[in-house]
Amino acid sequence: MKYIGNKTRLLDFIERSITESKIPFNGTFCDIFGGTGSVGKHFKDKGFKVISNDLMTYSYIIQYVLVYLNQMPMFDKLALGDVKAVFQFLNNLEPIEGYVFENYAPSGSYGRQYFSDINAKRIDAIREQIQNWYNDDMLSTDEYFVLLSSLIDAADFVANISGTYGAYLKIWRSMALKPLTLRIPEIKNNNRPNEIYQEDANCLIKKIKCDVLYIDPPYNERQYASNFHVLESLAVWDKQTLFGKTGQRDYTSKKSRYCLKGEALGAFSELIDCAETKYIIISYNNEGIIPREKLIKILEKRGEVKEYTTNYRRFRTERDHEHRKYKNCNDKVVEHLYIVKVN
Ligand SMILES: C[S@@+](CC[C@H](N)C(=O)[O-])C[C@H]1O[C@@H](n2cnc3c(N)ncnc32)[C@H](O)[C@@H]1O
Repeated sequence: MKYIGNKTRLLDFIERSITESKIPFNGTFCDIFGGTGSVGKHFKDKGFKVISNDLMTYSYIIQYVLVYLNQMPMFDKLALGDVKAVFQFLNNLEPIEGYVFENYAPSGSYGRQYFSDINAKRIDAIREQIQNWYNDDMLSTDEYFVLLSSLIDAADFVANISGTYGAYLKIWRSMALKPLTLRIPEIKNNNRPNEIYQEDANCLIKKIKCDVLYIDPPYNERQYASNFHVLESLAVWDKQTLFGKTGQRDYTSKKSRYCLKGEALGAFSELIDCAETKYIIISYNNEGIIPREKLIKILEKRGEVKEYTTNYRRFRTERDHEHRKYKNCNDKVVEHLYIVKVN
């Protein structure tokens, strides 16, 4: 999934750094800013019990399936056959003109181009069917989230964007013209009672204990709620009246302090002070709102800090132009990993 700060390509680096720090691969690993769930899933597969969290609903649903669940539910009540048959049924639904078509497709009321007309209609048909099944008590929560997670993933795959939903493209990218298809997610079993939350990290931290606390907060001013608003609309399905050219949701309650220059440092400091854990691991890059020296000072209050770095090609949504905000040779950023053994 294209996602600001997605750590999929840094998993080896993170795992190597943890191994070098002699942190045992068991106990409880908390991914408190889970995003796509890539880190939580990786360390679930390595033997940890995982606690996963994020503020956003689409992220919660994706992590519910990837990290929290240990087996595929059976979809018994639908009586359509096996899981494959359920996905086939949804993939073959007659497309309909609904909320997604109306708000995010070129022939809808606002001419937005997030999805082709036909894919928007497919999403509408599938999303309505899933919701009707759930409302009619034909799906368990696990089943509901398996289907929603697959739809969010499939919709993101055919979205006509260059990286975030901050804007749609005027020209159709080839992927956006491919037919939307739901795929059955792979669910791995770590035989551990994983936990999943959708809370502000600074609230959750006061309620949990873990062995390894992994912190991958937003590092710039781009709010996830406004950059991934289309996925949030699909996940929540509250059919809000959208505003502006790009069709934003009201995201007042989802604003992150970590994206605000005046508040990120205070929020981070509070999070670190409240952590009940043996190790703290932080991903942050050299262009983050919080300066490196200040970040280290906060961490040093809890124990000795080791720093690991790697060069990394940035997640890029902005084209090259004279006033481009983030300029750096070859689009390389330095990704830092700080590991603290808590005293
Ligand atoms: C850098 S991304 C995490 C990326 C993730 N490690 C991955 O590999 O996909 C930061 C995440 O923090 C979430 N977030 C922002 N503020 C938050 C808060 N106060 N509490 C919990 N999650 C928050 C965002 O929604 C976003 O998904």
